[in-house]
Amino acid sequence: MSYNSSPLEEIKSRLDIVDVISEYVPLKKTGQNWKGLCPFHSEKTPSFIVSPSKQIYHCFGCGSGGDVFTFLNKYENLSFKESLDILAKKAGVQLKKFQRDTVIAGERENLLNLHRDAIVFYQERLKQKPIAMNYLKNRGINGEIQKLFSIGYSPDLWDALFSYLQNKGYKIEIIKRAGLIAPGSRGYHDTFRNRIIFPIFDLRGEVVAFGGRVMDDSMPKYLNSPETPIFSKGRILYGLNLAKDSIKKTGFVIFVEGYIDVITTHMYGFANTVAPLGTALTQEHGKLIKRFTQEALLVFDGDISGVKAAKSGVNILLEGGLNVKVLLLPDGEDPDSFLRKRGRDAFGSLLKKAVSVVDFFVMQSGDDSYPKGDIALVAHDALGAISKIPSSVLQGYYVKLLSERLKINELFIREELRKIRKKPQRENKHMENPGVQLKPRPMDEIYLLQLILQFPEKSYEIFDAVSEEDFEDPVTRALFKKMKNGLTDYNILITKCEEEERNLLTGLLFKSERLSGIRTEDSETELADPEKIFRDCLKRLKSKKRQILLYKLQDEIKSAELEKNDGLLKSLLQEKQKLLKES
Ligand code: CTP
Ligand code: MN
Repeated sequence: MSYNSSPLEEIKSRLDIVDVISEYVPLKKTGQNWKGLCPFHSEKTPSFIVSPSKQIYHCFGCGSGGDVFTFLNKYENLSFKESLDILAKKAGVQLKKFQRDTVIAGERENLLNLHRDAIVFYQERLKQKPIAMNYLKNRGINGEIQKLFSIGYSPDLWDALFSYLQNKGYKIEIIKRAGLIAPGSRGYHDTFRNRIIFPIFDLRGEVVAFGGRVMDDSMPKYLNSPETPIFSKGRILYGLNLAKDSIKKTGFVIFVEGYIDVITTHMYGFANTVAPLGTALTQEHGKLIKRFTQEALLVFDGDISGVKAAKSGVNILLEGGLNVKVLLLPDGEDPDSFLRKRGRDAFGSLLKKAVSVVDFFVMQSGDDSYPKGDIALVAHDALGAISKIPSSVLQGYYVKLLSERLKINELFIREELRKIRKKPQRENKHMENPGVQLKPRPMDEIYLLQLILQFPEKSYEIFDAVSEEDFEDPVTRALFKKMKNGLTDYNILITKCEEEERNLLTGLLFKSERLSGIRTEDSETELADPEKIFRDCLKRLKSKKRQILLYKLQDEIKSAELEKNDGLLKSLLQEKQKLLKES
């Protein structure tokens, strides 16, 4: 991705990153910076810092950082062009006059185009396939709803889509990347064959993946696109693009389990329904929904797997700060089958019977998943969920409710809650998954980059003394190379970086506040003398480099000895002497 920096700088100069990020993440002022809970990984104490003076953000928990553009890119899962448009509008900058030299479509744009073409193909093929049309008709999915969900059909051929996309000019590489072809014994073939196709849309209404269902009992019943640069199951909810307005209007969201359940509920007028894509609900799903409502209603099958999914969903959503109610359908029914049999009004009155999370757990005690009457187990599960609720007031409310339902003194319930809170929570652990692993990088390389950033006027001295090859770490090396090529202004540099480089860069920019003696709240660095740091770094880098050279020479000397190559041996030994003298 490459672009001219002028519109970017214009936009950046007119916007305040604190204002923009505040629209998504609550921030608090601390010192000269702003702090909040990182939206890119799950955390309980804020390590996400926004700097109004530098116009950057950086998370010291997961390491991700960037500017106002990369924030929007990442948060909204947008292409560069899309966030440029949005921010330009916000800043009141006319993009037209820059258009000539703005954007070269990146991979994301390319993948989106490919999906747009694929969806047209699948929809066309549906019209030509009576068996597929009949299948939908038999399931009561009418033409109008087919169009609303852009339903299609993938032909019963090995390479129908593959050759169609190739004829449109797409390279094999990108079709592969989209997961729409897969390798077989005789080259690549279409991933989806002879299936009803359910396109999966992101929030902005872009097709980012497909789900495909067989029309008989063959396996697997459903197939989904693999994870791609534009599609991650844990971050997408089926139907949300169509449901978001209705969610806002009705004030709550209905979670169901399947594609067809979403389609049928929408068809019957419950347009605030969404479903995960055959996976458990995630924190990301919770965050996605929280942008539209705080109230969630889980409508799941009453069978064992439905109850299990509901329990896990309750825990995740409560932890995300949503209020949750649960409705388990009568055995063997899902929302689709229930609506077909009993109709809209019956479903509507059923929804009213949804119960609180406490009652959901208590209800299970009469079921087979618990030994009858095992109150301790019920209390334990319910309190596990309750302990996740961020609001103490709500926790108190549920504790009281649980004590009433189980007819147990609240004191005992509170005692149990304390025990659960103390235990390290296994489930919690794997939810705290920083998107990026923080890697330790060579200190001297880091110092040098920091010096360049902090004293750009002196950077030529460093560029003279140090070369790219002196950097061991690929990321510090790449950053150094860019700087040496003239990008010492971090505002521009940041827009030319790969993600890892950018994360490192923003981290450095915050750290350099300490190096220069501007103490941040957690500063423990003493006032440093930059000249001395520079000299020391250089010395260590050079000696490290010499050491590596020495090892290599030693190896060569050994093999020269073995080969009895006296001429070579002599010159190698001389070289070694010279190297040793230098140090
Ligand atoms: N699912 C999947 N892969 C499978 C089976 C299921 O991804 N092999 C996901 C799909 O998102 C599906 C959901 O799990 O919609 C629920 O599965 P299931 O209840 O088996 O199917 P239904 O949605 O009820 O579909 P149908 O009514 O067509 O049988
Ligand atoms: Mn079903």
